[in-house]
Amino acid sequence: MTSSTSVLRTSDATQESSLQTQVNLAVDCLINSLPDPASLTALQRRGIIARYSAVLEGNFIYWMTGAYLSAKSETARMIIMENLHEEVRDCHPGMLRKFTLAANALPRESDTMAVHQQLANVRLFIGRLSPVPLVLMMAFFEGFIQKFMPFLAELAAAQGSLEQEYTDVHGVCDVVHTQELFRALEAEISLNPPEPGAHLFEGVELLCGLLQSIVPGVRFPEWA
Ligand SMILES: [Fe+2]
Repeated sequence: MTSSTSVLRTSDATQESSLQTQVNLAVDCLINSLPDPASLTALQRRGIIARYSAVLEGNFIYWMTGAYLSAKSETARMIIMENLHEEVRDCHPGMLRKFTLAANALPRESDTMAVHQQLANVRLFIGRLSPVPLVLMMAFFEGFIQKFMPFLAELAAAQGSLEQEYTDVHGVCDVVHTQELFRALEAEISLNPPEPGAHLFEGVELLCGLLQSIVPGVRFPEWA
């Protein structure tokens, strides 16, 4: 390795670590601003589960597929493929449907419309297939989902549901998924370093906006 390559790689690693720190802060900011489940009415609890389901069931695999299509490095593609493989093999959308049905929170037209515009914004962003911002968004999303699971499980339990497979599985497997996606991000940054000043958090911001339409009142930091 030449000294200039070494400097470049050190700088990539520093950037990746800084992105990871910002993502962790954003996840913590969202999670810390979740409402106290005990303060919510049954209607509000049902609405959060229904809107979460309306967004996740039909979109998670689609978005992860977008990340796969955008990735250029072999490492990132292998990591994302493994993630997709698990989603499909273990039928995670079916798991979520079972969870939602058991909580009597199947999305209605009003739930679909409540997330419609923010969801459309995220879909358009995904369609641009920008590798670093897209893989960063999915790393953020995995980190968020993992920490969101106890809250979601509590809402369902308060609705009288005993079905917790979805929340149990994602509270565990998404820890590894998050770490692996940061490794994928590092590979993409090394292969194709973003321009200085590039707005890498665009997807994360759009996703935060979508999460606000699922759980009104949650907060997230603003990035320059
Ligand atoms: Fe999943």
